[in-house]
Amino acid sequence: MVSPTCMDKHYCKEGYAGGVYILPPLPCAPSDFGAVLDEETVRLHHDFHHAAYVAGANGAMAELQDIAGGKGDVNATPCAARKLAFNLGGHFLHCLYWHSIGREANQMPDSGLMSALCEQFGDMEGFIRLFRAAALGMQGSGWAILAVEQMSAKLMVFAVHWHQDAMVGGLRPILACDVWEHAYYLRYQNNRAAYVDAFIRHINWEWVSRCFNLSCHS
Ligand SMILES: [Fe+2]
Repeated sequence: MVSPTCMDKHYCKEGYAGGVYILPPLPCAPSDFGAVLDEETVRLHHDFHHAAYVAGANGAMAELQDIAGGKGDVNATPCAARKLAFNLGGHFLHCLYWHSIGREANQMPDSGLMSALCEQFGDMEGFIRLFRAAALGMQGSGWAILAVEQMSAKLMVFAVHWHQDAMVGGLRPILACDVWEHAYYLRYQNNRAAYVDAFIRHINWEWVSRCFNLSCHS
């Protein structure tokens, strides 16, 4: 059974430094994602899309701080707060996404995460069936997420459209598959299934297991 503790433990900390959100370097060379993603997609996705979320999060933070300090338009607060949620959610999920893709195919989770997956989904095939369906069934753009739900301490699979929806209720996402078209269209065009299947084959279970162990104790 997973304990809903350790909210003070974090991963993806490389996305924040010196008082601002930053674009961390990729965990490996863009060409190292080659089993799943082409190099051009990785560069565009990281250097422009992910970077835009970092800039958006910092911009929204500054706007909200101005409002708090009496310098900004207080009526703009809801809009700025939504902007922060969307961009900060996007920043965090992209940090997680880069780590979610491994170079080796067919890795396996560590024993603690494997037990938790089996407890919740029956077996690994059950988890993959659910995760794949979440990614493929998403209408338009979004994410398939594996997260630890803190109240029940259970692993759960989510399909979310807006980035911030993955953070609702104190969820701790530990695996993220980006199914916005910018993530896969250059190589896979409209064949999202081929992209999702390649992603699933190359899940970096070592990283996901580490995130799981930081989020919970068995
Ligand atoms: Fe993305």
